[in-house]
Amino acid sequence: MKNCTYLSSAEVIAQAERYIINTYARLPLVLVKGEGTRVWDADGKEYLDFVAGIAVNSLGHCHPRVVAAIREQAGVLMHCSNLYYSTPQVELAKWLVERTPFDRVFFCNSGAEAIEAALKLARKYSKKRWGAGRFEVVTAENSFHGRTYGAVTATGQPRYHQGFEPMLPGFKYIPFNDRAALQEAVGEKTAAVLLEPVQGEGGIYPASPEFLRAARAITRERGAVLIFDEIQCGLGRTGRLLAQEHYGVEADVACLAKALGGGFPIGAMLASAEVAASFSPGDHASTFGGNPLAAAAALAAAVALEEEGLVENAVRIGRYLKERLVNLGAATGLAGEVRGMGLMLGLAVKVPAKAVAAACQERGLIVNAVKEDTLRFVPPLTITRAEVDKAVAVLREALLATASQSKEG
Ligand SMILES: Cc1ncc(COP(=O)(O)O)c(C=O)c1O
Repeated sequence: MKNCTYLSSAEVIAQAERYIINTYARLPLVLVKGEGTRVWDADGKEYLDFVAGIAVNSLGHCHPRVVAAIREQAGVLMHCSNLYYSTPQVELAKWLVERTPFDRVFFCNSGAEAIEAALKLARKYSKKRWGAGRFEVVTAENSFHGRTYGAVTATGQPRYHQGFEPMLPGFKYIPFNDRAALQEAVGEKTAAVLLEPVQGEGGIYPASPEFLRAARAITRERGAVLIFDEIQCGLGRTGRLLAQEHYGVEADVACLAKALGGGFPIGAMLASAEVAASFSPGDHASTFGGNPLAAAAALAAAVALEEEGLVENAVRIGRYLKERLVNLGAATGLAGEVRGMGLMLGLAVKVPAKAVAAACQERGLIVNAVKEDTLRFVPPLTITRAEVDKAVAVLREALLATASQSKEG
């Protein structure tokens, strides 16, 4: 295998413990190479990757079009401050605007930054339209919006707040999919309602159509901005370019990141012309946001997503994976509900999810235990039926092995 690191897995892990700040509960796996749906560890072992960088590598690893675009742009112009215009950024913005209901784009480098931009824009818009005193943001319990102060305050899970209080003022949380609670929470002080159409880190919970439609109606009636966090569920993952399309609901603002750069870091906040007009020069900025290199990678990824029919593949293979997971649960009695859409699926398991994920990894399949009792499947959108068959066979073995170990234990 090419490009293998000169350090063994054990050496990399020991050095990480010595030199890197301990913020991740990492699995003992050192990845050194990826190609399509597969990755390799530092000891040369191959894995089928059903995590895909947590919904980042939607085109598979090192997609040739993205690699070529990065190589080419790197030799031409990598960075030139946003004091100036650059071609890839404009082309990417045009691509996004032409395929979504939004009119304008702000580029940044990550999901959390896209959320920050959306929160600031919503407050600015509300202040301009309604005057001071309209600053509240309503979000859902069990949501996840990122780790910067605004994004983590918006995240409706107290465990992400612990130790960092006081959180930002002006945030309210309502139970996800609870229309009455939303109606009650949105009032004269509400600047925005921020929701994930499909909750990701929360365990793969799609919004109900009634809830998202109510969110649209209530925000419109009360003059608040509706923001969708499509950072995980957007860009084809659920079988539509944006997950909001499943619901026939158009937000005023949408946040994207993860899959946008085909593996390269970039985020974007998309907004309607009316809301976007509240930002003036100096209101918001990002040194690296939409730099030529990231934008060229994202443009290549966007074109590949479309020309290679990957959104359609997410529908077709997503349906097949869902069916196979339902059957697996029924056949083993060790798994139950399958939640989600397209290739963003969660499987409720009756044995510890972390142990199942570890048993899968031993057998050459990477899956993620998103909760104690839920496995998350967000493979590349390029995945084939044969790869789904292989993954489900490994998962079956892993479930049975975990169940027999739990019995012995
Ligand atoms: C729905 C959602 N929003 C926001 C974020 C934060 O994105 P980032 O880690 O790029 O800041 C994530 C990351 O997992 C996410 O899933």
